[in-house]
Amino acid sequence: MFQFTLNQTAAQSSKVVQFTLNDEVVTVSANKNLLEFLREDARLTSVKNGCAEGTCGSCTVLIDGRAWRACKLSVSKLEGKKVTTVEGLSEREKEVYSWAFGEVGAVQCGFCIPGIVMSAKALLDRTASPTDAEVKDAIENNLCRCTGYVKVEQAILLAAKAFRNGGTLFAEASVRVGARAVRPDAKEKVLGTGEFVDDMKVAGMLYGAVLRAKYPRAVVKKIDISAAQSCAGVELVLTAKDVPGERLLGLIVHDWPVMIAEGEETRYVGDALAILAATTKETARQALELIRVEYDELTPILTTAAAMAEGAPRLHPKGNLLSQTIMKRGDADKAIAGAKHVVTQHYSTPHQEHAFLEPESALAVPTECGSLTVYTGGQSVYDDHQGITEMLGVKGEKVRVISKYVGGGFGGKEDLSVQHHAALLAWHSGRPVKLTLSRLESFAVHPKRHPMEMECTTACDENGKIVAAKVRIVADTGAYASLGGPVLQRACTHAAGPYQIENVDIDGRAFYTNNPPSGAFRGFGVMQTCFAMESNLNLMAAKIGMSPWEIRFLNAIEPGGVLSNGQIADEGTALKETLLAVKDVIEAHPDAGVSCAFKNSGKGVGVLDIGRVKLKVENGGVVICTSAACMGQGIATVVLQIVAEATGLPKSALSVHAPDTMVTPDSGTSTASRQTLVTGEAARRAAEALNEDLSGHSLTELEGREYYREYDAITDPMTSDKPNRMSHIAYAYATQVVILDSEGRVKKVVAAHDVGKVINLNGVEGQIEGGVVMGLGYALTEEFPLENGVPTASLSTLGLMRSTQVPEIECIIIEKNQSELAYGAKGMGEIVCVATPPAVACAYFQRDGKRRNSLPLQETPYSADAAALKEFRAQKERLRQSEKSSS
Ligand code: FES
Ligand code: FES
Repeated sequence: MFQFTLNQTAAQSSKVVQFTLNDEVVTVSANKNLLEFLREDARLTSVKNGCAEGTCGSCTVLIDGRAWRACKLSVSKLEGKKVTTVEGLSEREKEVYSWAFGEVGAVQCGFCIPGIVMSAKALLDRTASPTDAEVKDAIENNLCRCTGYVKVEQAILLAAKAFRNGGTLFAEASVRVGARAVRPDAKEKVLGTGEFVDDMKVAGMLYGAVLRAKYPRAVVKKIDISAAQSCAGVELVLTAKDVPGERLLGLIVHDWPVMIAEGEETRYVGDALAILAATTKETARQALELIRVEYDELTPILTTAAAMAEGAPRLHPKGNLLSQTIMKRGDADKAIAGAKHVVTQHYSTPHQEHAFLEPESALAVPTECGSLTVYTGGQSVYDDHQGITEMLGVKGEKVRVISKYVGGGFGGKEDLSVQHHAALLAWHSGRPVKLTLSRLESFAVHPKRHPMEMECTTACDENGKIVAAKVRIVADTGAYASLGGPVLQRACTHAAGPYQIENVDIDGRAFYTNNPPSGAFRGFGVMQTCFAMESNLNLMAAKIGMSPWEIRFLNAIEPGGVLSNGQIADEGTALKETLLAVKDVIEAHPDAGVSCAFKNSGKGVGVLDIGRVKLKVENGGVVICTSAACMGQGIATVVLQIVAEATGLPKSALSVHAPDTMVTPDSGTSTASRQTLVTGEAARRAAEALNEDLSGHSLTELEGREYYREYDAITDPMTSDKPNRMSHIAYAYATQVVILDSEGRVKKVVAAHDVGKVINLNGVEGQIEGGVVMGLGYALTEEFPLENGVPTASLSTLGLMRSTQVPEIECIIIEKNQSELAYGAKGMGEIVCVATPPAVACAYFQRDGKRRNSLPLQETPYSADAAALKEFRAQKERLRQSEKSSS
C-alpha cells in the first residue's frame, strides 16, 4: 500500500481517503484535486494536464470503469472507488493499443493519446464491436488538435478487432520511403511513458511563476517585490534589472522584453513584469499576488486603423509599422482598366489560437560546472539556445538545450515563452526551476494567427482568363514583431494564388498594436490571402457563367508557367493534377465548394535555409542526429525512413536522437514546411555516404564512424532583379472540395494534394486530415475574442472541433515530382489547411449565392450554434453574477 502524505497542515485538515489506483490500494491524506494527485504525487505521466478546466480530456482516467476527467474531480470523492490510468492497463491492452495506434498512424504529438486510450477502453469494455458513431461519441470529450480524429477512430476500431480476434499482432511491413511506417515514438506516447517537459521532476526543483501586465498599455511606475520576497517558500523574485545580458529578444527583430522595466510601457497583457521561483506551485502562484505594481493606465491601440492614424502613439521606437511588402509584375492598374470583368471585395480574417494540447513548459537545471541545461518543448533548440545565451550574456557553451517531446506547435512554439524565464530563475538561484503555463496564460502569451483586412481586385478577360490581381493587405501584428515580417511576406507572395497572372500588384503592411502578438501559424499568412483570392474567383466565375472548377482549371499554373511572384513553375508542379483528381466529385456534386492553394516549402527569398544531419554508427546501429523539431508532424520518422531507403538498413538498426544542442547539428526551426525537404535531403546525403561504406563493410566494422551532410536550399531574395527569381525551392499544390448536407453542415471534404513524393503514407494522410479539420475550425467555428486587448476565451469557448463534428475526409495524393531532393518530397504540413476555408465559403456561395467575406463564416448552421452557445454562457454568467451579489 502506498502512503501519500502532503504537508503537515494539509494532512491535519483533511480526512484520509482510501481507493484503488491501478490495483494498488492508496491512502491519501489530502483533499486535493485528482489530476494533481496522479501527476505530482503518484507520478503517473500518462495523465496529462492540457487545460485543468475539464475541456481537453487529456487527463481522462477510468473510475469504476467510466471515463472521467481527473482535473474536475477531488480525491475526496473517491473513497472505495477503483481508478485506472494507462499505467494500470493489462499487458495485452498495452500491447494492443500501442500497436493499433502506431499501425494506423493515430499518434502525432501524442499529448492527447493516453486520455483517448482511456476513453476507448471505457467503450471497448462495454461494447466489443462498436460502430463508427459509437467510437466518435466515446471520444467526444477528448480534444485532438493534430489528427482530425480520423486515424484515432480507425485505431480504436482496429484495437477492438484485435481484442475480439486475439492472437498475435502483425508487425509493420516496411519503413522504406512510401510505406505506412510506424513512428518510433508511437508506443511511448500511447503508454504515456515518453516525457514531455512538465512530466519531469528533478531533485531540489523549484516552480516558477510569472507576473503579467494588468493592462495592455500602461506605464509601469513601480514594481514592489519585497512582500513576495519575504514569503515563506519563495526562493527568489526577479525583475528586469536582474537580466544580465540582452533584455530585448526576438527571432528576427529584437523588440520583446524579457521583462518590462520600471518606467517602461506594457504592450500587451502577456508581458512579464516579474518572475519568481518557490518550493511549491501553490506558493509560487500565491506569491505573485504579493507583488505590488503601480501603473499609469494608457489608452491601448487595439486596431490597425488606430495604429496607423495620424499622431498615434508610437508603440515601438521606430513607430507602429513593423514591415511592408510590395510585389509588382506588369501593370495591374492598366490591365484592370481594360478587363472585361472585374471583382473587388473586402475580406476580414480574425485571430486564431493554435490550441496545441501541451501548454508551454521549460525546466532549467544548473550544472556543477556553472552552466545550464534547459529542457524545452519548442520548435528549435538552437533558437531557444540563442535567446537564452543572449539574455544571460554568456558564451554558447554555457547553455545546453535539449528537447523533450513537443505536444503540438503549429507555429505557436517558435518564440520564447517560458524557456528564458526558467533559465533566468535557475541561473540566479542555482537550483532547477520548472515553469509551466496554465492554459489561460498560454493563450495570453504566445503569438496568434494575424488578423488581416484585405482589399482584393481580380480582373478577367471575356473567357475567364485572369489578367490582373491587385491586393492590399493590412495585418495586425500585435505587441511584438515575432515572425510578423515573414508572415506578411508569405501572405503577399501567395496573394494572387497558384495561377498564371501577368499583372500583379500586391502591397501589404503589418502594424503593431496592443493586442497579443501575431506570428507563425500553420499556413503562415497564406490562409488569409488564399481565402480572399479564392473567394474573388467564385464571384468571378458566377459573373462569367463558369463553374468554380472551370475558372481554376483554366488559370491553373503548369510546369514552365510563371507564378505571380515571377518564379517559373518546375516540372514537379501538379496543380492541374489535383484539379483533375476531384473532377468526378465536382461533376457528381455540382453545388460543391472548391478551392485551390499553393504553399512554399522552405524559408526561401534568399534566407539561409540549411538542413543538417549527422549519422553516428554506435553499438551496432545508426543514430540519426538532427535538431529538426518534431512537434507531432513526424520529421523523426521521415529522416528514419530516408536513411532506411538509402542504406537498406532495417528499422531495428536505426534510432533518432532527440534535438540537443550538444549532440545534434542545427537544422533550423520547424517552420515553412521545410524539414521534410531540407533536413530530409541532408539525411539522404548522409545516408548515401554511409551506404558507400556499407558496400564493403559491416556496421560493426564501421563502429564509431560519423557521416555528416548538409543541404543548403539556395533561393533569391525579394530584392533580386532577376526576371524570374527563384523565390522558394519548392511549392506544394492542392485542390479541396467541400460537400454540404441538406442542413448546410459539411458532409464531406475531398482533399487532393500534390506532395511531390510520399515518404510516410500514414504521416501524409494524418497531416491532411488534421489540417482539414483545423481549416474547418478557422472557417466555421473558431474564435479568439479580445476585450480591450485581453483574451476572453477559454479552451471550451474557442470552438475547436470535436470528433462528432468532423465530416468524412477523403485524401487523394498526387506524386509527380522527379526531383532527387529528399526523393522528391515537398513539405506539406501547412498547405493542408490553406484551401479549406475558401472551399467551405465556395460551398455556401454555390448553395445560396450569398457572399461571406469574413471568418468564421456567418449564416451557417455552425454560426447559429455558436450564437446559441454564446447566449447560454452569457445567461450562466449573469446568473452567477446575480447569485454572487445576493450572497
Ligand atoms: S486537463 Fe482535464 S480536461 Fe483538460
Ligand atoms: S496527437 Fe492529438 S493533440 Fe497531438
